[in-house]
Amino acid sequence: MTNSTPLAEVAPPAGPRKRLFLRSWGCQMNVYDTGRMADVLAPLGYAPVDAPEGADMIILNTCHIREKATDKLFSELGRLRLLKEEKEAKGGGMVLAVAGCVAQAEGAEIVARAPYVDIVLGPQSYHRLPEMVARAGRAAGAVVETEFPVEEKFDHLPDAAAPQGVTAFLTIQEGCDKFCSFCVVPYTRGAEYSRPAAAVLAEARRMVAQGTRELSLLGQNVNAYHGEGPDGAEWGLARLLYALAEIPGIERLRYTTSHPRDMDDALIAAHRDIPAVMPFLHLPVQSGSDRVLEAMNRGHTAEDYLRLVDRLREARPDLALSTDIIAGHPGEKEEDHEATLALIRRVGFASAFSFKYSARPGTPAAGAPYRVDEAAKDRRLQEIQALLIEQQAAFNASLTGRTVPALFTGPGRRPGQLSGRTPWLQPVHAAGDLSLVGRVAPVRILAGQPYSLHGELLHALQQEKNAA
Ligand code: 5AD
Ligand code: SF4
Repeated sequence: MTNSTPLAEVAPPAGPRKRLFLRSWGCQMNVYDTGRMADVLAPLGYAPVDAPEGADMIILNTCHIREKATDKLFSELGRLRLLKEEKEAKGGGMVLAVAGCVAQAEGAEIVARAPYVDIVLGPQSYHRLPEMVARAGRAAGAVVETEFPVEEKFDHLPDAAAPQGVTAFLTIQEGCDKFCSFCVVPYTRGAEYSRPAAAVLAEARRMVAQGTRELSLLGQNVNAYHGEGPDGAEWGLARLLYALAEIPGIERLRYTTSHPRDMDDALIAAHRDIPAVMPFLHLPVQSGSDRVLEAMNRGHTAEDYLRLVDRLREARPDLALSTDIIAGHPGEKEEDHEATLALIRRVGFASAFSFKYSARPGTPAAGAPYRVDEAAKDRRLQEIQALLIEQQAAFNASLTGRTVPALFTGPGRRPGQLSGRTPWLQPVHAAGDLSLVGRVAPVRILAGQPYSLHGELLHALQQEKNAA
């Protein structure tokens, strides 16, 4: 890292704080990136605020992965334009920036449609935000940056300043070389890039020092990670997980999102051998039909996926799986849809995301013939979701009566209640003292509901018994 000064040690700039409103759509990588944009702007005096009204700068961090992203952006911009004009009428100013994958995909088109936008920046340009803000102040037109030098971004971003909490994300990989037929990521985020392991380990150590106990490693295709190791050798994700697990204070490790083809033997063994690697894996399958999987360019069959699941479960018998499914990819017939339902039944997912196929301009599937009509897509999605919800509810219900380790992350919604998560990423609530935040404690599950679990702390029960 060329810039390794923790922001907390940077002297606050003189002058009044500037109000920065950030809005993030889409995936966890965007949430992480939004945090880093706040970090990079902090030395300029920008501090995050909760509402756009009166903000000195607004950043919309967009997501392009699914339907209507562009429409959503322009309707939001229309609302913000009024705020900006109101502020300008009072003699103030507001910098309006569009970041993320829609910015990458649409570039200067955004400014053509919304000339009041000051900055358009793609995901690889966040480290240049301060300079762009300065340029936007001077320039007559908008500043548009959508280049792709991803290594540069990681080298220039400051170390994470704000503690992210007991559970936190850490981006270790970006971009994707898989070119699935339906997906914009290879076009918006570019080729695969893995951060050097030393940089990841250093960031992880800092996060743990600030209280993080559960680390979720992020990447568009995270299990394709192949970063340079401190020993000069190339490290895969398994090697990185072993090294992260050695950091004192790390209780839990996760990673997302993975491609079945990059699930190698070493990574499967890591699930068996590293207790900190949680028994939960998000492994998108997209479809259960070989014909559709081929049309999607996924590079594996349904049987390959099922075999992989068996091997993972052999390595870690309590492993629960989650997935992504797309209903109605071009060319999908009724029998293909049935094959998807059959695969879901075979695997039994603990949770899942499912989507109706929507064409992303510029992707191969967008130009493919044999589109599935909307009514069929809707019905198929409903059938898929009904089955997935049933499986999720059954999985959660199966924990009723069991004792599970919960990592407590903060207060619950009710007074005296704590909120946490299980190894399988389910939210769990139990009465307990705030001193438990950041710690793992055993909870007996009283009710496994479809979307969360309710339980009681075992050590509280013990104390009650001792007192009696
Ligand atoms: N249409 C529908 N779903 C999509 N996804 C990605 N692109 C599309 C699209 N064009 C889904 C995939 C992916 C998840 C992040 O979003 O299931 O795994
Ligand atoms: Fe998109 Fe994931 Fe396929 Fe890469 S592997 S193209 S990110 S769906």
